Amino acid sequence: MSQRFSLSVNGRIHNIDVDPDMPLLYALRNDVGLNNPHFGCGLAQCGACTVHLDGQPIRSCITPVSAVGNGRILTLAGLGTPDKPHPLQTAYVEEQVPQCGYCINGWIMTAAAFLRDKKKPTEAEIRSALEGLKCRCGTHMGIMRAVKRAAEMMG
Ligand code: FES
Ligand code: FES
Repeated sequence: MSQRFSLSVNGRIHNIDVDPDMPLLYALRNDVGLNNPHFGCGLAQCGACTVHLDGQPIRSCITPVSAVGNGRILTLAGLGTPDKPHPLQTAYVEEQVPQCGYCINGWIMTAAAFLRDKKKPTEAEIRSALEGLKCRCGTHMGIMRAVKRAAEMMG
């Protein structure tokens, strides 16, 4: 049975009526109208669905809407704007990282939380932070270049 939820997403409240057990990913895409978080595996195995909940990356495909409570959700659309992009968004463009682009949401949202908390990370620390994310197009080398570039911008 549907319930009313007031989701705080990218600084705005969205009132939606959904099944409490529905994955947050579906609510964001279908009820809030944000399509940056992608459905990849639906099993917390790829990261394509990643958003921040109170600043921490979560896999929205396995997070029920009822678990969000009053938490603040940030999606890729709220990370930066075309006029004022996040350093990672700038770096991804400058390094021409995306191929199909399907996975990129997860890599950027995961790296954004990591670089916010870790200045001047080593390559090993970056690799560890991004462990478990998947890209079927093989953009991993470009991703590493972009994250290092963004780390320099944020350092
Ligand atoms: S779709 Fe959520 S981790 Fe793959
Ligand atoms: S760019 Fe295509 S899956 Fe990563």
